[in-house]
Amino acid sequence: NNQAIGRATGKIILMGEHAVVYGEPSLAIPFPKATIQTTVTPSTGPITVDCIYHKGLLTDVPERLSNLLTVVEISLKALKKELKDFSLKIDSSIPAERGMGSSAAVAVATVRALFNYFEQELTHDQLLELVNVSEVIAHGNPSGLDAAMTSGEQPLYYIKGKPFVPFKMSVDAYLVVADTGIKGQTREAVGSIAALMKEHPEETMNDIHQLGELADKAKTAIEENSPIDLGSYMHQAHLLLDKLGVSNEQLNQLVDAALANGALGAKLTGGGRGGCMIALADSETTAQQISDALRETGTSNTWIYQLGDDSFE
Ligand code: PMV
Repeated sequence: NNQAIGRATGKIILMGEHAVVYGEPSLAIPFPKATIQTTVTPSTGPITVDCIYHKGLLTDVPERLSNLLTVVEISLKALKKELKDFSLKIDSSIPAERGMGSSAAVAVATVRALFNYFEQELTHDQLLELVNVSEVIAHGNPSGLDAAMTSGEQPLYYIKGKPFVPFKMSVDAYLVVADTGIKGQTREAVGSIAALMKEHPEETMNDIHQLGELADKAKTAIEENSPIDLGSYMHQAHLLLDKLGVSNEQLNQLVDAALANGALGAKLTGGGRGGCMIALADSETTAQQISDALRETGTSNTWIYQLGDDSFE
């Protein structure tokens, strides 16, 4: 066998995080500015891994890479191959634990690389199945959104329990993504909304429902190429998410700095209480201005992304 590679993108939740847990719609996009590449190289003996978290035997990977071990095992089983005689190298520009789907993306890139290496055809359904099985084993109960996004080429509209619906990113705008440098606290944030739901069911459900409506309106704004409306819905969503207690000081500071520097709207993305913020800009120049301002506030990293551009970095 010759060396083979597989790739995957990160993902960004544009609208609907948290509300999606309660059956409301959400919008997510692939994020090709942050990617993972797995390289499979022939060698002899047990499988080794080379990545920032681990250099050594695949069977000795730390807990955070347990899905890598799982996905290699189940892929080789599907390929009817043995667990030996190659090495894996993983290069990633997707920050871990920031809600960008790095865990699913590692699995997607690795399944693709292994099927390429053994020169076997891989259908999209088979890829999703292998990635989802490994995510379930490693992480419990994923919604499948990360697997669908990191393996896909298109934005998706998603309501829990229903099929993913692709939609076209037809808005002329730029997204500035900023990393707070703090781990996203998805589990805690989901739990705190669940607690609010018990304490104040009516008001909380009303907020959640509004978030769902904003996701639907955002989809229309995208389809009608109305960046100003989209920005406004994003900002309204952030205010609701903050009210629900899933933002934090750093995220709010980034949102304020983005708005003060020309953003059409800005919000947290994903689980919240850390992770990333996204801001919408009407031009590349404004996006750059926002990005510069965010970097001055001490954000650990920023990316500028033209919505709808699917070329890999
Ligand atoms: O930050 P992420 O990528 O884990 O996104 C979490 C999205 C939530 O809606 C908050 C939770 C969920 O399971 O959908």
